[in-house]
Amino acid sequence: MQIHVPMPAVAEFPEPCSWHHAVSIVDAHEPRITALAIRAFKEGDETAWSDVQHILYHWNLEELERTAPVTSYARTVRQLLRNAILRVEEESRRSKLSLECLEDFTPERAIEELEKIARDHRINNHPLLVHMEDNGLTPEECVRFLDNYYANNRVFHLHIAAQSLSTPFDLRAELYQNLYDELGAGTPSEAHPLLFLRSYNSLGGTDRVIEPFVGALHLLNTKIYHTLLSGNYRNGLGALGFLELTMPAQMKKLLAGFRKSGLTPEETIFWDLHISLDEEHGDAWFDEMKKVLKTPEDALAILDGGLSVLDARCTFYDSVYNTVDKHRQGKAA
Ligand SMILES: [Fe+2]
Repeated sequence: MQIHVPMPAVAEFPEPCSWHHAVSIVDAHEPRITALAIRAFKEGDETAWSDVQHILYHWNLEELERTAPVTSYARTVRQLLRNAILRVEEESRRSKLSLECLEDFTPERAIEELEKIARDHRINNHPLLVHMEDNGLTPEECVRFLDNYYANNRVFHLHIAAQSLSTPFDLRAELYQNLYDELGAGTPSEAHPLLFLRSYNSLGGTDRVIEPFVGALHLLNTKIYHTLLSGNYRNGLGALGFLELTMPAQMKKLLAGFRKSGLTPEETIFWDLHISLDEEHGDAWFDEMKKVLKTPEDALAILDGGLSVLDARCTFYDSVYNTVDKHRQGKAA
């Protein structure tokens, strides 16, 4: 599989040949990039938001997968320009965060409220999941879903690895247990990225060029931000904890949907496996949160990561559901 994500022209710049040249490129591009981010995050401009997600996809993956040396001037330029985007996004996102428990704060109240926010989130009954559970998808719709799932989820194990870099030593064991499970628990052929491909292979092979929806790019960017870029391991703890806590209910519906679409138990093992595995991981994540949540700032950082990933996953489901919906309407017409 290849993933094709076009780079918007606003983010293209010549190859810098010196530090002086790199600084002049940043000076020339930063105002345009910042203006684009303001339109995207503060003014609700959907085209600008889409452009930002495309740019972040490339620059974030470079950061996560270490595909350029740290001494590269071009990489430095990309990081500085990427950070101009993230500054605007952080300001916009954090200004919307609130918790009732802050009025009379105790860590116990905060944990209780955070868990309730995750369990009550609209992701638990997203219309795409309800539709899949009730009706299944056509083979074309299944492929479209899997294309976009692959694009956002292909490096999930690297989010856990990235999160471990900033997590305090005594909290790392749970992360590495999770990572061990992701990579097949000692059986490499059962690593989750490979189990995922079994659903794919049954629907005509994996020799395709994927053009992901912007919702899939946004979900990937959100996971990379909170686990690698936020500078606060509590953000990543919230992101992964909220994800794992809500995953079993989603996976049950997705499994039922794929089975209804005609896939066999062998082909849907990825979805089946995550029902029980994420129940364990979700509980463990909330146990870890109890150890680190001491102040209102800790609670807000966990909420920031947790809510961001659940909202982004909903946006991802929305983008798939919109095309499923259109497809059904088109067939009915
Ligand atoms: Fe997994």
